[in-house]
Amino acid sequence: MSAPAFTADVPDAAAAEAVGPEYVTAVGKVILSHVRNELAGAVAFDEPAIALAPGPREKWLACRIAMEEYGHHLKFARLAADLGLDSAANGRSLSVFDYQLTSWAEFVGLKALVDLAEVVLMEELLATSYLPLRRLVAGLLPEEHFHVAFGKARTRDLLTDPANVDVVQQAVDQLVRCTVPFFGRSVSANNDAFRQWGVKQRTNDETRAHWIGRARHFVEGELGLRFPDADRHWNG
Ligand SMILES: [Fe+2]
Ligand SMILES: [Fe+2]
Repeated sequence: MSAPAFTADVPDAAAAEAVGPEYVTAVGKVILSHVRNELAGAVAFDEPAIALAPGPREKWLACRIAMEEYGHHLKFARLAADLGLDSAANGRSLSVFDYQLTSWAEFVGLKALVDLAEVVLMEELLATSYLPLRRLVAGLLPEEHFHVAFGKARTRDLLTDPANVDVVQQAVDQLVRCTVPFFGRSVSANNDAFRQWGVKQRTNDETRAHWIGRARHFVEGELGLRFPDADRHWNG
């Protein structure tokens, strides 16, 4: 039987330290995963997309998105530093960043689906117990919503040419498969601690299922494509 969940709001780093080292570790793991993943995404996808963009307007938008993702990395890193955490400490970035980006079609599909996963994670943090993190994600979500809206609109544009249907369907299949692990394992001691300390509210499977629902709605309902098999359970 687990202890009752922690329900206080923690206003700043000093208050987090006063709650204790387990709290700092739990909230720190969430912040550091964003520090790593915002940087990994900017390096693997957003910066290369500038070269893949087909024209000046797309390059300008890709530059803006890359700038915003590097900015997200820096802002999460500042939050980590306030808590005395070393953002340069090695941790693995998620498998989705191993995805090899080769085309503009893949990039816009990625913004629609993978940034939607980031939106789902950030929306949950709007209720996190650590108020500096809550305020930061509230400030970043408009930019993440813009990335998703951009990805969705550009993916729909591509599909006005029937010659692009196969390439977009292939990108969707691969991107969904790569994003399923993004939410963590079904059995996760980290997630247990995050919920115990009010850093998160949902299990990894609940968050994954939420993303699958929204992603499926986009792929089937808005694009008219096939959504691949995706299981809410994932254990590596
Ligand atoms: Fe971001
Ligand atoms: Fe983004």
